Amino acid sequence: MPQFQIRREGAIEHWTIDGEARRNALSQAVVSELEDHVRRVSGPDKSVRAVVITGAGDKAFCAGADLKERAAMTQPQVVAFLAQLRRTFRAIELSDCVFIAYVNGVAFGGGTELALCCDLRVINATAEMGLTEVKLGIIPGGGGTQRLPRLIGKGAAKELILTGRRVDGDEAVKLGLANKRGGLAEAHAMAEAVVENAPIAVAAAKHAIDEGAGLELDAALALEQQKYDLTLQSADRLEGLQAFAEKRKPVFTGK
Ligand code: COA
Repeated sequence: MPQFQIRREGAIEHWTIDGEARRNALSQAVVSELEDHVRRVSGPDKSVRAVVITGAGDKAFCAGADLKERAAMTQPQVVAFLAQLRRTFRAIELSDCVFIAYVNGVAFGGGTELALCCDLRVINATAEMGLTEVKLGIIPGGGGTQRLPRLIGKGAAKELILTGRRVDGDEAVKLGLANKRGGLAEAHAMAEAVVENAPIAVAAAKHAIDEGAGLELDAALALEQQKYDLTLQSADRLEGLQAFAEKRKPVFTGK
């Protein structure tokens, strides 16, 4: 049974975790299918340029790991599941596609980690986010202890992770955990604004930011130059210049 509802609008896909009854929790089946979809949009067919990920219903974006399934899993099965989860979240970051999490309800544990590996986050009025794992006797296992401090700073990340406190949309935006408050329309508009731009440039900028974040400044600036060089060789760069001269919108081809 498919675990996601997939809807395509031009160069944008909407992926909705279709598990409202268990609050869109990350079961093994959900993560396997997520990995397949991430690989599909990251392959040679680059026609999908942005993905909006959300959860079915209005209660939860994703309630984290599927705790019912987890209770029946052996330790090796948990280890294998976490390996697939980490690989899938990393594949989202490494993809040329831009991923936007539309946090439309609670996002706890792995739900917040899923949002964290996306490039952008829009959070609605009823949503809450939190890395609540220590309350369950574990720690974030899908990159949360590493991605949260990189996004909002070490002090704020420690406070949220060590207390397991949940934050609402206003606080998430204030902390920089979410980019903006809004509904699906805002998340879609953000995707539209991304896919209007030159594909090679968008991907180069995404990877320059992600890969550069862990480097010391000179190495990071050299990395930016490498990524810039990719755009220098592109036909879209010339189209951008020509469109500017002709006072029209550029028509980018991704070449
Ligand atoms: N895994 C599996 N099932 C889950 C789940 C999870 N992470 N979270 C919720 N569900 C299930 C509940 O067991 C319940 O199933 P039931 O109807 O068979 O009893 C159903 O989803 C609805 O949950 P409920 O708590 O009644 O809904 P709610 O909207 O009032 O609250 C949450 C939703 C997400 C706030 C609450 O369920 C919760 O705190 N879940 C645990 C989240 C968590 O700690 N995640 C971290 C994992 S590391």
